[in-house]
Amino acid sequence: MAELLSAEEIIELKGQIAAVHEPRELIIEVLQAVQKSHGWVPDAGVKLAAELLGLSPLQVDEVATFYDKIYRSPVGRKVIHVCDSICCWTRGTELVYRHLQQVLGIVPGETTSDGCFTLLPTCCLGACDKSPAMRIGDRLYGELTVERVNTILADERQETEA
Ligand code: FES
Repeated sequence: MAELLSAEEIIELKGQIAAVHEPRELIIEVLQAVQKSHGWVPDAGVKLAAELLGLSPLQVDEVATFYDKIYRSPVGRKVIHVCDSICCWTRGTELVYRHLQQVLGIVPGETTSDGCFTLLPTCCLGACDKSPAMRIGDRLYGELTVERVNTILADERQETEA
C-alpha cells in the first residue's frame, strides 16, 4: 500500500492536533487528508489517524462510518452524491436518480466499470431551493433534469480524461 500520508502532511497534522483542546475535533480533517492522498480510507488509514489523534481506531472509525463523505471502501475518480432528503424527493429526485443509474449502469453504492463514477445517496446538501440537487466532488448541482444530468456527466467525465 502506498504511503497514506507524507512526512510533511504528518508534521502539519500534528501541529494542528497540538493546537486544539480536544483532538476529536480533528477526526474528519485527518481522515480527509488520508482520503485526499489515497482516494479512500482503508483500515490502515483509520489506524494512522487514531495514532496521530491519540484515540482508539474504534473512536475514529465510528466517525468515519457516520460521515458519508469519508469513503471506507474504494470509490471511482468522482463520487456523485445524490440528495435523497425530502425537498429533493418532492421535486423529482426519483426521476434523476433512476436516470443516473440507467446511464451509468450501476445501482447506488457501485462504481462504473471504467472507474469514473461512484453513485451514493446523501442527506440534504443545503440546496433545497435548487432541488433536486447532487454534489460531485466540490461542485454542487441543482435544478436537475434528465437533460442537465446528461450534460453534467459528459463534462465531469471529460475532466477525468483530460
Ligand atoms: S433536500 Fe435536497 S438539498 Fe435539501
